[in-house]
Amino acid sequence: MRTDIAHTIRLKDYLPPAWLVETVHLDVSLHPSETRVRAKLAFKPNPESASAPLVLDGDGLSLMSLKLDGAPLPAANFVASPNQLTIPQPPNGPFTLEIETLVDPSANTQLSGLYRSSDTYCTQCEAEGFRRITYFPDRPDVMAVYTTRIEADRQEAPVLLANGNLVDSGALDNGRHYAVWHDPHPKPSYLFAMVGGDLACVEDSFRTMSGRDVTLRIYVEHGKQDRCAYAMDSLKRSMRWDEEAFGREYDLDIFMIVAVSDFNMGAMENKGLNVFNDKYVLASAETATDADFAHIEAVIAHEYFHNWTGNRITCRDWFQLCLKEGLTVFRDHEFSSDMRSRPVKRISDVRNLRAAQFIEDSGPLAHPVRPEAYKEINNFYTTTIYEKGAEVVRMVHTLLGPEKFRAGMDLYFQRHDGEAATVEQFIQCFADVTGRDIAQFMLWYSQAGTPRVTVSTHHDAAAGTYALSLKQAVPPTPNQPTKSPMVIPLVTGLIGPDGRDLPLVLADGGVVRRGVLVLHEAEWTFTFTGITERPVLSINRGFSAPIELVTDLSNDDLAFLAAHDSDPFNRWQALQTISMRLLIENVASIRAGKAPRSDDKLMVALAALLENPALEPAFVALALVPPGEGDIAREIGSDIDPDAIFQARTALRREIGTRLGAALSTLYERLTVPGGYTPDATSAGRRALRNVALDLMAAGGDASAITWAARQYDAADNMTDRMAALATLALHGGPEGERALADFYSRFEGDALVIDKWFSLQATIPQADTLDKVRALTKHAAFSFGNPNRVRALIGAFAMSNVTQFNRADGAGYDFLAETLLALDPKNPQVAARMATAFRTWRTLEEGRRGKAEAALKRIKEGGELSRDLADIVERALA
Ligand code: ARG
Ligand code: ZN
Repeated sequence: MRTDIAHTIRLKDYLPPAWLVETVHLDVSLHPSETRVRAKLAFKPNPESASAPLVLDGDGLSLMSLKLDGAPLPAANFVASPNQLTIPQPPNGPFTLEIETLVDPSANTQLSGLYRSSDTYCTQCEAEGFRRITYFPDRPDVMAVYTTRIEADRQEAPVLLANGNLVDSGALDNGRHYAVWHDPHPKPSYLFAMVGGDLACVEDSFRTMSGRDVTLRIYVEHGKQDRCAYAMDSLKRSMRWDEEAFGREYDLDIFMIVAVSDFNMGAMENKGLNVFNDKYVLASAETATDADFAHIEAVIAHEYFHNWTGNRITCRDWFQLCLKEGLTVFRDHEFSSDMRSRPVKRISDVRNLRAAQFIEDSGPLAHPVRPEAYKEINNFYTTTIYEKGAEVVRMVHTLLGPEKFRAGMDLYFQRHDGEAATVEQFIQCFADVTGRDIAQFMLWYSQAGTPRVTVSTHHDAAAGTYALSLKQAVPPTPNQPTKSPMVIPLVTGLIGPDGRDLPLVLADGGVVRRGVLVLHEAEWTFTFTGITERPVLSINRGFSAPIELVTDLSNDDLAFLAAHDSDPFNRWQALQTISMRLLIENVASIRAGKAPRSDDKLMVALAALLENPALEPAFVALALVPPGEGDIAREIGSDIDPDAIFQARTALRREIGTRLGAALSTLYERLTVPGGYTPDATSAGRRALRNVALDLMAAGGDASAITWAARQYDAADNMTDRMAALATLALHGGPEGERALADFYSRFEGDALVIDKWFSLQATIPQADTLDKVRALTKHAAFSFGNPNRVRALIGAFAMSNVTQFNRADGAGYDFLAETLLALDPKNPQVAARMATAFRTWRTLEEGRRGKAEAALKRIKEGGELSRDLADIVERALA
């Protein structure tokens, strides 16, 4: 466990490195517990900085030997500890250092650095894992050319991989063999990777836009080759798309993906050698849902896109993490939109943004897209850096339009290729192609918190004017009590009584390009002319800005938008807003001991969706799902009673199920997907709607829905339908649910990724006995605290997705998480810290729960010697 006292790293203290590394020659002899690493590093002084001692980072290292320019360095000339190697008086000019360290991959349960997953040796170096392999200036602005020689027992590890191209390989004595890989592209240490193991491989190839053939390989456990086809197809489509959409071509002769089962995050973009959580590679109709297929496509694309946004142009320091992550998420969102339905993708992305980022941004863990300080960088791989970071790039796109945006991106690639860049340098490229000033826009990177925009409107029929008054406010967040007004691009339409968009003509002669109104001030009124009849306002179309919007639209106006808006996002949003108003009123009623009311107009609007053949099924499926419990809580803001929220939402689902029952059952029978399973978006949309219909019928208490679900469960030829039926049965089916859960386990026993679905489903059942079941499942043979996917599937699902049971009034949910985190932290601090973010909303709870959550957090804090990761989250949560 880490015992060093955490100190705060600040952006304002950034200094360029005193020493640069030109080349790295690694020679790694793999052994389960004693892997020998010889690193030969060519240092040169940085001409841009003053001379200074050589200080190299380490983390838990044992130094075996050290040579400078070929000669052993006398002990008096250096200081080595597990966490640092210092040479107080290095030579004045370039020199080489040969460092020999010994590492134990089998003992590495943190899964950072060199570790073993099943029997495969693999590495994870982002953010600071390379220093667990050898001493190094482990910071992204030190970029070097790497040559990696790996040697291993041929039986144990017939496959030996590293970044770049294979340049040599051969046999050695004693049954060992070696491979040498060379990566010509200078890169920071966090992009280093190597793999050794007994793996199967699926191979394909891709011809780039300039006609070069690239070998594509996906390495998986033996026997899993038949689950790689979708990942390979996604990779080829990503490579083509990046050429077409951004003019970016791949730059090595080979691109490899290795799937491992023990992985802290989703995947990692190491140059030429992406390492993936196998969850984002392996899929077949029988084992993966439509959502899994969509995630695989997105993550494969994301990591591939990093080759340009992240690898060719990397980050100067970790404060700039959003430079690569926000931009790459924006790119993968665009890719998925082009591969699938753009409106459906946008609605799902916004749903996720609200459910995760808006919640983070409104609590104690809120931080700017570019933070100014951190104690543990691994805790900043957050939804704010990734998803809000992507929204900020999307706003640049919206403000500039597609052509100027592309010109700015081209300039960025041209100007900064091969560099470690900053957010300012990125945004400056857009300023340079447009001549605009960027100072105010930069607030999106420096100010945390979700802006709240309040809208009021006034139509003057006699004058033919329509006034749109906007007010913005950004709430206080940790260390940022006051805020300045932001630049907010609001794509807007005024819809006439015939349902068509009216021309937008500003009274002051200003022009509205592409429907984008830009709010710069704290308050502003836009006045439109030529508006004789009262229009209905559609604002923040496509969710053009990541804000909370408060409008004076009536429910009738919203119902009109739901039926007529040309913007599909706002059609969806209008229904969500009507539902949200009802839910909030009903939560208050329930807490006052009164019955929830129903809303006829909402039911009429929802019924109209079901009868409209012009709508995509996937869109209708999204529109039928009421706002989530987390969204409702965020909207209420304080004194949260999760049980009342759950009851209000359940009542609404029941009402939809009963009032629309006939239409839902017609839909269910009509929407069968003909032919065998294919994961394409159109058939996935039909399955989604059919399964939402089934679940709503069951929620409405329709007994035949249980019969249908049981039949669907047994007959399913794909995991989407089987899992949806299982969820409906487990939630509403009583003994049928028990039977199906047992059957599911025996069908898929041994298939860990599928059993994760079984863990998650049971952990998210909103019933009083769930906590006991979760506790029992932690003892189940298929569960392991050592595997992050298992921990997230069971513990993560319970703490993050089971709002009523995690927030039990007796505090037992908090106690369970506290004990679990204290046990997990010594093994895997990154995963423990991630799970601890489940406490991020504790201050908004009603008094009783608030006290219990606080006590649990304090118990963790005082629970012993915490990792820097967990201590940081707990301290910020309590601050
Ligand atoms: N860069 C990876 C991605 O594409 C994430 C890796 C983060 N790893 C970590 N240990 N924090 O999103
Ligand atoms: Zn990424």
